[in-house]
Amino acid sequence: MIWIMTTLERAEAAEHALSQELDRVVVKSVIYTSGERDPRVPIPRPPDQGKLVMMGQDPRLPQMPAKPTLIDYFKYRFGPANHLLQSARLAQKSGASEKIVLACLVHDIAIAGFIRGDHGYWAAQLLEPYVDEEVSWAIRYHQALRFYADESVGYKYPELYAKLFGADYQPDAYIERDYKMARDHKWYMTSRLICVNDLYAFDPNVQVELEEFTDVVGRQFKQPKEGLGWDSSPSAHMWRTIMCPTKYL
Ligand SMILES: [Fe+2]
Ligand SMILES: [Fe+2]
Repeated sequence: MIWIMTTLERAEAAEHALSQELDRVVVKSVIYTSGERDPRVPIPRPPDQGKLVMMGQDPRLPQMPAKPTLIDYFKYRFGPANHLLQSARLAQKSGASEKIVLACLVHDIAIAGFIRGDHGYWAAQLLEPYVDEEVSWAIRYHQALRFYADESVGYKYPELYAKLFGADYQPDAYIERDYKMARDHKWYMTSRLICVNDLYAFDPNVQVELEEFTDVVGRQFKQPKEGLGWDSSPSAHMWRTIMCPTKYL
């Protein structure tokens, strides 16, 4: 009998082999595999052979410094962040305020290093304890505003979206609801400016260095002294998950 491995089985075998090379057993969280496997079925645990489970920094990942900064997350966990750097530079060139430059720099960190779906909401939550309220608000709502044109600032529905989601794509009801709410909010234009700078920040030929924004981050991002993730903010655990995504508990 010929047994052909499916892509998932191959990936699991490779994962298993890798896990065997590690000192500790790695078990992926349900969210990493859900869809590729049925989340109602328990995730099979690789035979532990007496090994302990992963409870810290995964040795397959670049090690984070003991007291990581936002810049360290860019270096070791978000990459390549060229889209973010380009949009921040565009904002800066257009004379936008430093708050908006920072907002552009971090608007898609959830895609870059955490979870894609609802990325604007996730990023806002990650950032909320550390940035001006207007910045996290604007990042939360860029998620919805991106789907709606605003001719007053020359923002058209992105061609990229038509390509990615199909010409007839309609945003979910909650996106439309949040768009309508944001449209009438005093910080609407801050969020809209993220979208404007977002639109033109996909040039593969433009390389921007992270160091260009060290000072902006220094002034606009409240770096916790314990290190980002080791502090006690309401989103610190999310940063720790980005740092140690395979932690068993
Ligand atoms: Fe985005
Ligand atoms: Fe973006």
